[in-house]
Amino acid sequence: MLTVVSTKKKPSLSDIKRAKEISQKLNLPYLKRGKLTLNQLFEKAREFFKQEKIRILLVENQNLKLITPSKQELYFHPGLLKIRFLNILKKEKFNINSKDDLFYQVLSLRPGDLVLDCNLGLCQDALLCVYKTKSMLVGLEIDKVIALVVRDGLKKYNFTGKMKIFNTLKNLIYPICIDNKTYLQMAKDNSFDVVYFSPMFINPKWICSQMMPLREIAIKSFPDKDTLENAKRVARKRVVIKINKGAHELFDYLDDFQIVKTQTRLEYLIWTKK
Ligand SMILES: C[S@@+](CC[C@H](N)C(=O)[O-])C[C@H]1O[C@@H](n2cnc3c(N)ncnc32)[C@H](O)[C@@H]1O
Repeated sequence: MLTVVSTKKKPSLSDIKRAKEISQKLNLPYLKRGKLTLNQLFEKAREFFKQEKIRILLVENQNLKLITPSKQELYFHPGLLKIRFLNILKKEKFNINSKDDLFYQVLSLRPGDLVLDCNLGLCQDALLCVYKTKSMLVGLEIDKVIALVVRDGLKKYNFTGKMKIFNTLKNLIYPICIDNKTYLQMAKDNSFDVVYFSPMFINPKWICSQMMPLREIAIKSFPDKDTLENAKRVARKRVVIKINKGAHELFDYLDDFQIVKTQTRLEYLIWTKK
């Protein structure tokens, strides 16, 4: 799918400058917006580049927003992270060991653990990980435009209230734009405590509005056998895959993964190093 870089309507000179810089850096075409509405901009892009499916990366007052072909907006925001984090705080406050939170339980995270997040996406799982580990996390994202939008948005986003702690913790996340398969082929044995995958759900039967823009444009690949073998080599402790319920049945190379069912529509697949 072609991505075109442009700006908001009637842009400032600095937005035009930034859009042109991004277009050069990511090797994507730039399209002048001027006074065009978004619909007119899409029409112009489709005609000019002779492609039906186009997404547009907009620079708006220096912030980045990716508009999908169906005009959904993708930008960095905490989304469901807020609810998940407030639940964790509640558990901690009432002296329930926060390890009881299934996400932390399956990842078996301890302070100081080094995590490789193989599907960084909107960074929500990654932020929860660094809250627990207080340590560096390397996050891999295959899509160069999503990677840029999330990296830039995360840097600028000002968490408030109980989430203020993430203004410091977010600096522990090192996003890299690369296919996780390639990264894992090159990574050293036992170089991360936990290797975590959260591929796009396979044919989910529900709609999560927060994930809809990502669902529309992100690559929906599941890690192949070689990638998982490399993940096992690279993990000191665990490899974990988050997936929608039942999806593991579609793959015949997951026999040595333990399935952890949840009360939600998710399940986790866990492989532990002996
Ligand atoms: C379901 S989302 C991940 C959500 C993320 N864990 C979060 O908390 O926001 C999956 C992401 O993985 C990315 N992706 C898909 N295949 C990939 C691959 N082979 N290597 C790296 N990233 C990949 C997609 O572009 C998408 O952004």
